[in-house]
Amino acid sequence: MAEPATTGAVLAFYDTHPINERQILEKLRQDGHDPAHVTEDVLKHYDQDHFGGVAANDTLVRLAGIDADSRVLDVCCGMGGPSRYLAHTCGCRVTGIDMNAGRIEGARTLTAMAGLDGRVGFEIGNALAMPFADGSFDVLISQEAFCHVPDKRRLVGECARVLKAGGRIAFTDILATARTDDATRARLGKEMTFQELGSLESYSRALDEAGCAVESVEDLGEDWRVILVDRLAMYRRLKDQTVERFGLAHYEKWDRAYSFFVGLYQTGELGGGRFLARRRS
Ligand SMILES: C[S@@+](CC[C@H](N)C(=O)[O-])C[C@H]1O[C@@H](n2cnc3c(N)ncnc32)[C@H](O)[C@@H]1O
Repeated sequence: MAEPATTGAVLAFYDTHPINERQILEKLRQDGHDPAHVTEDVLKHYDQDHFGGVAANDTLVRLAGIDADSRVLDVCCGMGGPSRYLAHTCGCRVTGIDMNAGRIEGARTLTAMAGLDGRVGFEIGNALAMPFADGSFDVLISQEAFCHVPDKRRLVGECARVLKAGGRIAFTDILATARTDDATRARLGKEMTFQELGSLESYSRALDEAGCAVESVEDLGEDWRVILVDRLAMYRRLKDQTVERFGLAHYEKWDRAYSFFVGLYQTGELGGGRFLARRRS
């Protein structure tokens, strides 16, 4: 597959992201944990790179009915926080896929540290062309990542392809609202590497067209309005580490971009959604 022109920008965005493997290990040490002997019960509070932490994972588990027999795919898994959490809490087997090699390297390291590498594996790959056979998984999850992927219809079609008949797709994503204008989309594209933001309606349509029956759609805009204010404060607490690793100019650029992003939730110019759909047989 020819890589979209935006792929390099998304890779660079996550190569210089304030939440990264090194930062997670430093924070563990600061809090008095020895990373060499860390358990998932501790790690799960440090490695979730989506909104709402482990509670958001629990919601996907409940919605998609994940249990020990489920074969789960975590698309755009980042450093694998949700993948490890699902394997640990449900006893299922999980595969995570992400196109950023550094994120996957971090995911593998953290998973081995938590002793979960027997049940959780990772692949480097693009969500638009995944290296899995048709009908490989019972459940597919994703959190706050599809916003970076261009061509949502193709993305959702690819997700449906790797699900078994009757399999469930449960995901959350950053969404456009009726109030998102072109200038805002362009700025988010440049500063946050978001592509073709989906909406509650467009994802529902894409799921249906991909052969999935939509079972629930939840508007998360209000919830995220609050969560994101805390998240901006969390990034600001990481200032020293971010400056040390990537420089002051990078920190300031990130802070401007993230403040703008969080502000859009306060005015309703951005939203969020949680979707559950079942692949028709
Ligand atoms: C906000 S992180 C989410 C990480 C993870 N879902 C979590 O909750 O901890 C978004 C991830 O999406 C990945 N990503 C973006 N576009 C992708 C694509 N087209 N294919 C695979 N991964 C992609 C990025 O590399 C990044 O690791």
